[in-house]
Amino acid sequence: TSVKDRVRALVAAHRGDRGALLPILHRIQEEFGWVDQEIVPVLAAELNLSRADVHGVITFYSDFRSEPAGRTTIKLCRAEACQSVGAEQVVSHAEQVLGIKVGQTTSDGSVTLEQVFCLGNCALGPAAQVNGRVLGRVDAKRLDAILVTETV
Ligand code: FES
Repeated sequence: TSVKDRVRALVAAHRGDRGALLPILHRIQEEFGWVDQEIVPVLAAELNLSRADVHGVITFYSDFRSEPAGRTTIKLCRAEACQSVGAEQVVSHAEQVLGIKVGQTTSDGSVTLEQVFCLGNCALGPAAQVNGRVLGRVDAKRLDAILVTETV
């Protein structure tokens, strides 16, 4: 299915629902991994909104990704408990090793680096989530190992 067809199907499923925009965007992001700008005019037309409105919502919520994610997504926890055991050093290390900032994807498309605030794994901080899997005690050294095994 193309992303546009999927948008039309989702709009049909939410017909009459005034607050449909956000749930539809979340579904698209879930299914395709990102929100393609292509769908802005389709959503605007189908939901009777202006393109600027749709675009505004997409850019307002930082959880919508505007480009495809890397093959591996690494989320590093920066909440308090993990911070107290060195999360910030892990973040700086990751940024340095990967040559990107949090929120970016390496130019070869291998890794997307993201931050997260608590993964419910506080006792085992610094915590990270790698392709959906929660890991504990991820210090700089462990992160290097993860990068070797997960990003082949
Ligand atoms: Fe990092 Fe809870 S603070 S997992």
